[in-house]
Amino acid sequence: MTQSAYRAQLLRFNGDPAQSPHAAVFDEDGLLIVEDGHVVAAGAWDTVSTQLAPGTQVHEMRDKLIVPGFIDSHIHYPQTDMIASPAPGLLPWLETYTFPTERSFADPAVAADTARFFVDELLACGTTTALVYCTVHKHSADAFFSESEARNLRMVAGKVLMDRNCPEFLRDTAQSGYDDSAELIGRWHNRGRQMYALTPRFAPTSTEAQLEACSVLAKQHQDIFIQSHVAENLAEVEWVASLFPGHRSYLDIYDHYGLLRPRAVYGHCVHLDDEDRRRMAQTRTVAAHCPTSNLFLGSGLFDFDRAGETGQPVALATDVGGGTSFSMLQTMNEAHKVARLTGHHLSATRMFWLATAGAAQALDLADKVGTLAVQSEADFIVLDPAATPLLARRTSRVESLEELLFAFALLGDDRAVYATYAAGKCVHQRDRERAHAARTAKIAA
Ligand code: GUN
Ligand code: ZN
Repeated sequence: MTQSAYRAQLLRFNGDPAQSPHAAVFDEDGLLIVEDGHVVAAGAWDTVSTQLAPGTQVHEMRDKLIVPGFIDSHIHYPQTDMIASPAPGLLPWLETYTFPTERSFADPAVAADTARFFVDELLACGTTTALVYCTVHKHSADAFFSESEARNLRMVAGKVLMDRNCPEFLRDTAQSGYDDSAELIGRWHNRGRQMYALTPRFAPTSTEAQLEACSVLAKQHQDIFIQSHVAENLAEVEWVASLFPGHRSYLDIYDHYGLLRPRAVYGHCVHLDDEDRRRMAQTRTVAAHCPTSNLFLGSGLFDFDRAGETGQPVALATDVGGGTSFSMLQTMNEAHKVARLTGHHLSATRMFWLATAGAAQALDLADKVGTLAVQSEADFIVLDPAATPLLARRTSRVESLEELLFAFALLGDDRAVYATYAAGKCVHQRDRERAHAARTAKIAA
């Protein structure tokens, strides 16, 4: 196999920047060498260039920054077309926009078309791995995985389970949900780079029988992911308490059914107490913090200080369509502000870690993605500090790595992503897509 090589500024992490001042590893003149979809070497040009095979073409990108591909730990692909829909809070938003939109996925053609657009959008934003909710329809998961597999992406997804408190047209049963999930696990889990997530939407839309069925599936398949929502909104928390009396907390319901464990990921975690957070730490269950969604739906403020004190594992997420952007840079922007409102300073260096190696570690994927370690999968992105006139002006004045990353996080979005690579192949090139869009517009005019 032939090597590909990229000479650029290079950032990756060897730990959590909140715990070590040397966690960020940065080479101002760096080189990344890739072969057969995997990283062969990453480091300073002076040392790593000796490993270049004779004749390898070196892509010169010294004015750009290579980082591992972003990981979005919670997103709903069927909600792509209803992003930015107004509602006075979570529950009315679900009723008015979400459920009717998800109904349209009864048509496999809608699922296939949306999956294609959704994956394009992820890649344009530099997201190479995501934990994805499909709809209740089994074929919606097939549509997503087929699209992801065609582009050789490392993705995690699952069919939503809902057998009560939702419209009849989106309801499965404890048995059919079990059967469909088991079939999808058999078809997709660990097929190439695809991985399955058991996906009970949230406790209110599952009966005890359905949660019991999840418990059985989770026990049968120890290495699958589990994803759901918890303690997003106060009205939701009250509703859950009335539906499941006798539990210490909302989180305790999932605990009761054996759904807290490594590779279990819960969206939001806004209204938890420290006992819940410690339980998540103990079981290595991950909180997917969704700042743009929490602000948009007025759900509340995630508490980074309490998460840090209790050891609760955290990753960042967009939660589109409750979230308002596919961009993990925009997600960092809002995460920083949410943290500020709770008296916590969230550095850009830590936010980049949370969106790459930190997420990979929390999700038990660090041997595969998020690090650019030798032999890991070559999912990386090329960021452009001069993507917009304002970014160019600001980044030309930065005096530290933290300032550079902070400018990307606060001012960046899909425009800052110059190129996205998955398993060593270019799967998005900003200027090529722009030229294509311009040509298409001209033909249409
Ligand atoms: N809780 C249950 N379903 C959803 C959803 O689709 N989005 C959000 N933000 N919260 C939920
Ligand atoms: Zn969600």
